Amino acid sequence: MKALIVYVSLHHQNTERIAREMAAAIGADCKRPEEVDRDSVASYDLIGLGSGIYYSSHHRDLLNFVNGLDRLLRHKRTFIFSTSGFEELVFHQALKERLAAHGAEIVGEFKCGGWNTYGPFEMGGGLQQGRPDRMDLRNASDFALELVRSLEQGSRGRLRGGLLSEQGDEREDQLGGDPPD
Ligand SMILES: Cc1cc2nc3c(=O)[nH]c(=O)nc-3n(C[C@H](O)[C@H](O)[C@H](O)COP(=O)(O)O)c2cc1C
Repeated sequence: MKALIVYVSLHHQNTERIAREMAAAIGADCKRPEEVDRDSVASYDLIGLGSGIYYSSHHRDLLNFVNGLDRLLRHKRTFIFSTSGFEELVFHQALKERLAAHGAEIVGEFKCGGWNTYGPFEMGGGLQQGRPDRMDLRNASDFALELVRSLEQGSRGRLRGGLLSEQGDEREDQLGGDPPD
């Protein structure tokens, strides 16, 4: 499966680390929007799109990149990823809507914490210090591998709901969270 990962990562290169980890796991090309040759886009079976979260959505350069691809995204399989201070899935909404408007299929989502020293968070060294950490990077590569494996096996349905929450649970387990009742 030929895959492309496109990322914008400006604050602390948090998302770039996630993007590169995913790309290495699945042998994807890994580029910033300005490095992507539009003519090459049709040749990819899967496109991952991610950035840090800025004011509750993906960075505008990534959103504009998606708009610029327009019809090239029709029926294209895509996945979304992000790093952020608060790790909310709702931050993906604006990018999701744009992808849907261009007819893309969203087959997976990944999010994790990212070191944030913006504004008041600078005090005390910032929010989410050390993130993404080793476990985040492993979760990112596992996510990408599992996504590609599932797509190759044709089991897309399972990915829609399951993959992200499974990874969240795994992190809780490894951090020694309370066992389920
Ligand atoms: C200008 C600015 C705005 C941000 N807005 C949010 C936000 O709305 N919600 C959030 O959870 N994190 C926010 N963050 C934190 C970033 O999403 C987080 O640090 C992210 O990992 C940065 O990714 P990057 O290093 O790849 O750019 C913001 C950071 C900056 C610099």
